[in-house]
Amino acid sequence: MNAPTVAQIPPGIVNLEDHARHAHTVLDANAWAYFSGGAGDEITLRANRSAWDTRQLYPRVLQPLAGGHTRITLLGRALAHPILLAPVAFQRMAHPDGELASAYAAAALGAGMVLSTNSSIAIEKIAATALNESARGPFWFQLYLQDNRAHTLALVQRAELAGCDALVLTVDGPTDGARDRQRRAGFRLPSGVSAVHLADFRPMPAEPLHPGQSALFDGLLAHAPTWDDVAWLQTQTRLPVLLKGILHPADARQAAALGLAGIIVSNHGGRTLDTAPATAAVLPRIKDAVGDLPVLVDGGIRRGTDVLKAVALGASAVLIGRPYVYGLANAGAVGVAHVLRLLRDELEIAMALCGCQTLDQASPALLFEG
Ligand code: FNR
Ligand code: LAC
Repeated sequence: MNAPTVAQIPPGIVNLEDHARHAHTVLDANAWAYFSGGAGDEITLRANRSAWDTRQLYPRVLQPLAGGHTRITLLGRALAHPILLAPVAFQRMAHPDGELASAYAAAALGAGMVLSTNSSIAIEKIAATALNESARGPFWFQLYLQDNRAHTLALVQRAELAGCDALVLTVDGPTDGARDRQRRAGFRLPSGVSAVHLADFRPMPAEPLHPGQSALFDGLLAHAPTWDDVAWLQTQTRLPVLLKGILHPADARQAAALGLAGIIVSNHGGRTLDTAPATAAVLPRIKDAVGDLPVLVDGGIRRGTDVLKAVALGASAVLIGRPYVYGLANAGAVGVAHVLRLLRDELEIAMALCGCQTLDQASPALLFEG
């Protein structure tokens, strides 16, 4: 009998950017444009990174470190560390095992997993694998409100039945940003990769546009969600609902007033509004606006030092998007697990060198203010 082949991490990969560089050699131009690209001039995409880079950690010495750990509590649940996998669509374009491999790695490494509405593998199949791991992190379903409430409800019910712990309602992308890189690459989904959860939904017949009407405002966005739809969703599910894609304190306050379970500060990895501010820059004012409400953050997190900075600025936890998809492309589930392991190890190192035994000791005082 042949031994099962276990993917190996390609030699020389010691951090998340190494995974990105290697993935560029593995993915075809179509997939690379989709996964790596941002909107417009990719100013926000770059700003996310540079905002973490330019914030400086202020080391402390000779602090007690024995017994330190990365554990946190999130929505009442004890987690081994504060790193989750962000929802990323169409992962079978990166690797045939797609979201199943990501969920497997997340469960094994105690990381949370947020499954996209636009997953290329069905939630039931993923739940059957991921939910059996006793040390797993939370399993959340990312919801895009559909233009037909019956369709939205069908997705919510599937997520509840599959055993999801929460819903993450993404609100920053009523339309994609102007994705030049995808357009230049002539991006199309390869055959065999699709948004399987949406397969049975027939789109609402489009009203014919009158001369002078906008294909965007009068077409695609004719049924775009509003705050009323968020309130409606809360009456339709027993699951906690988090809002993803918040950058403005006024929106954060509205989310808090509606009794949402948490907020994810995100600019969709620079894929929606180009020149929107970096998430690291707005995180403190969002935290100020909502007090005790859990605030998570994503966008450009590539280092354990970034994770520590995020927690110091008030984040309860962080999500990573592209890095784990690159790990997936490089070595399937093993690659995703490697990415999570590297980031967590780096977080421990950063904590130790800042004199932090636990993450609840991380406060803005950890950041050097020039
Ligand atoms: C995304 N993101 C995303 N978000 C979401 O709510 N639903 C989705 O289906 C997707 N799909 C998606 C595809 C790809 C290729 C990317 C890169 C991103 C956004 C994602 O959840 C997250 O906010 C960002 O990826 C975080 O930034 P980094 O870590 O990629 O820099
Ligand atoms: C994206 C959508 C699927 O960012 O959220 O590509």
